[in-house]
Amino acid sequence: MKDIERRVWLVTFAALLVFVIYETVKTVLFPHLSLISSHTITVIVVAVMTFLVSRYALGRYSQALAEVQRQTAITEKTNRLMAGVLATMREGVVIVNSQHGIALYNEAAARIFKLRETDAAKVVAQGSSPEPARDTANELSENLLGRSQTAASDSAREYRLTDATRDPAINSAFRRALDEKTPIELCVEMADREHRSFQLNVAPLGGDLAVGVFFDITQLERLERVRREFFANLSHELRTPLTAILAYSETLLTGAIDDPEHNTRFLDTLYKHATRMNELISDISDLSAIESGQIELTLKPVNLRRAVADVVMLLESRRADNTVKITASVPTHLRVQADRTRLEQILYNLVDNAVKFNRPDGSVHITAEESEGHAVISVQDTGVGISASDLPRVFERLYRGDKSRSRKTEGSGLGLAIVKHLVQAHGGEVSVSSELGHGSRFTFTLQAASQETGTTESASPEMSAVDA
Ligand SMILES: Nc1ncnc2c1ncn2[C@@H]1O[C@H](COP(=O)(O)OP(=O)(O)O)[C@@H](O)[C@H]1O
Ligand SMILES: [Mg+2]
Repeated sequence: MKDIERRVWLVTFAALLVFVIYETVKTVLFPHLSLISSHTITVIVVAVMTFLVSRYALGRYSQALAEVQRQTAITEKTNRLMAGVLATMREGVVIVNSQHGIALYNEAAARIFKLRETDAAKVVAQGSSPEPARDTANELSENLLGRSQTAASDSAREYRLTDATRDPAINSAFRRALDEKTPIELCVEMADREHRSFQLNVAPLGGDLAVGVFFDITQLERLERVRREFFANLSHELRTPLTAILAYSETLLTGAIDDPEHNTRFLDTLYKHATRMNELISDISDLSAIESGQIELTLKPVNLRRAVADVVMLLESRRADNTVKITASVPTHLRVQADRTRLEQILYNLVDNAVKFNRPDGSVHITAEESEGHAVISVQDTGVGISASDLPRVFERLYRGDKSRSRKTEGSGLGLAIVKHLVQAHGGEVSVSSELGHGSRFTFTLQAASQETGTTESASPEMSAVDA
């Protein structure tokens, strides 16, 4: 601005000088010129000079205008990109000024701190509409450059950091980043309805702003806890049979082998514990193979009723001494797109649990129905049920409910984890509902295959009982 003012003065002085020279030269060269002629010549000269100066000024002006337009277009594009990135980020971003007012936040931050998402949308571009994007982009750049902090958007002025969170750790991290101009990294926990943990990185952002980025690490922490518990449970599950095997084999070696009264019983127990270890190890390797995607599923249309009947038959032969009654109602025509062996593994695990955690003379009922291209299969029992605290965890690896541990039922605690992964590998979902003392219902979905044609049974749409 100063530069332009200086130029205006310069041009004015130059024009004045030229005019003085011109007048002097004219008077010296033509001392007898009439007043009218002198005025006419002066008017012509001034007109020519004004024309030339205006043309020059206009040229410079349009050059400057083109440059401003080019810069604006670049800024708009950059800001639109930045606003788009902020809007799609899963991490919460909050920019705070030196008065601890929130200058900018994105939608993720709005969700974390329960701020108005519509206001975040005002600051951060949304969707593809160019108009709001330009407005927000300008606000964004102005806020970021700190040029219009007083004229920042309404939403930016409305919130202070303490409105978003009263957590002293977060507030002091921003304060330190603003005062000491150093980046700060810390973990914060927010104990609202669902307990969440965040890794927070706060960094000074030039001028008197600081940016805080909130990474949600709740899920990572949960996985870490599950992993720790898995190894703790694994060593416990392996140690129990191993201790028994060591103790019994030592007893046999130190003489009991010649004791005809006990040696067979000891060997029998040894065999039982070794079998249990073997089952555990094979379940673990099965699970890790499924988890790492090493198992290939051969998806084919499978008649669900036949698969259920086979599983029930196998289970009844293995649990001949059981008094739990198993029944099933599966439409005869219902076919699912599944790997037959894996489908049977899913069904076996669920029905086995339903029998194992049942009461004497209880019952298990298997149902299936088709709904919107999916088969919904349920295994319902009249057993001990699952407590509300165990319910969300039963699908975790090696997790066994307290009741089942104390009842000393056989099993590795891996059955349901295998079921979950197999169902997911088939593109389905598994869920459980249960009432302690009254029984549980495990439900999973599979993709239904095209209807079987040409069977006489397919004519009857009603559910029919499997002889089990
Ligand atoms: N039908 C059921 N009724 C009650 N509890 C169940 C049922 N199915 C599973 N559970 C609970 O879930 C836990 C995990 O099941 P699972 O993974 O199959 O392990 P396992 O059968 O080896 O104990 C069981 O230990 C038990 O506490
Ligand atoms: Mg089981």
